[in-house]
Amino acid sequence: MDPSLGERGGADDRAVRGETLASDEPPRADGGQPLGFEADDAARGTALGDKLLPLFGKGRASVARVTSAWYVAATSRKLRNKPRACTVLGIPMVLFRDGAGRAGALLDRCPHRNVPLSLGTVVGGRLECRYHGWRFDGAGVCRHVPSLCGPSEGKGRRAPAFPTVEQDGFVWVYPTLGEDPKSEPHRFAYVGKPGYTVARQTVVAEATLFSTLENALDVPHTAFLHRGLFRNESRGITLRALVDRSADRVVAEYVGEPRPTGLVARILSPSGGMVTHFDRFLLPSIAQVEYRIGTENHFFVDTAMTPVSDFVTRIHAVVAFRLRIPGWLVRPFLKPLAMRVFQQDARILRRQTETIRRFGGEQFVSTDIDVLGRHIWRLLRSAERAEPTSAERTEVELVV
Ligand code: FES
Ligand SMILES: [Fe+2]
Repeated sequence: MDPSLGERGGADDRAVRGETLASDEPPRADGGQPLGFEADDAARGTALGDKLLPLFGKGRASVARVTSAWYVAATSRKLRNKPRACTVLGIPMVLFRDGAGRAGALLDRCPHRNVPLSLGTVVGGRLECRYHGWRFDGAGVCRHVPSLCGPSEGKGRRAPAFPTVEQDGFVWVYPTLGEDPKSEPHRFAYVGKPGYTVARQTVVAEATLFSTLENALDVPHTAFLHRGLFRNESRGITLRALVDRSADRVVAEYVGEPRPTGLVARILSPSGGMVTHFDRFLLPSIAQVEYRIGTENHFFVDTAMTPVSDFVTRIHAVVAFRLRIPGWLVRPFLKPLAMRVFQQDARILRRQTETIRRFGGEQFVSTDIDVLGRHIWRLLRSAERAEPTSAERTEVELVV
């Protein structure tokens, strides 16, 4: 798969045009227009910029800002010799590589006169501001002030730097200044594993992190929104979902699942066989869907979500598979199908966000078969408040 889909060039003139957070984003999978949400709409409690009063909603939105965590800021491939603007949790950052090729992330604001550093260039491994040419290293220390006699460094001349780690083909940032990370970024277990083919895809959803995570792990919508691709109409088979929530994750194991009937399943497993299916949410932003069909076919979708702002979520999917048929043979079929699924999800999430905005807030009603939603929300909310989450085991029946 072409990992570039859904991403756009680095330090460009978007900041000059003064665009909002939402429009700082790459083209969406559904090709629609930006919603115009500001990062703090939810904080203010209502959808501002809309003439309608929140007659039906309560101004509530499922927004949880988990700040003490690692998020993907960019794919390694997209960070080359130019600075690259990105936004994580509403914070504008600039990524660049220093002289040793190490990725660094600074606040995207020059300490001198506050122009975006992402407008600059990388000179000798230092990020040079476009306006007066101050140069910063990966730690944000000002190493050069043109024409100045005397030292360039100084506390006030520093650009705040975020902890940065590059691994598995992604640049991760920790978006909280002045805090030492107590965790490591997520590892993609099947990247580089012998026998596995890996495909990557990055797309943007105009939805909260919660709604995007729930969508990625929601079974009932697949028979409708993705009819024919994933699942077809109900065959009247009762499944059990064993749900296990612990401190940092919730796992649903589906028992008694027949091989899905859609096109994707037929390509992945022409021979059929016993199905093992796990859906997992790992705090703060990882969604995993794992299928084993028979003994030979293993399919693992490992997705790292980045909350760009409260209502924009970037999805970095790493799809790893080991099949009886060779991976190179499957890839060309899989890519358009996967994109179709992503587009359908992106489109419906966008419409969901628009509707919530129009009504001035959410009013969600759930049933037992919304298997993971309440657990995802509980975990996100607890993590945001730095509170522990109690463990819980439940069992749910659903008909597919
Ligand atoms: S604004 Fe950056 S060097 Fe002056
Ligand atoms: Fe979906």
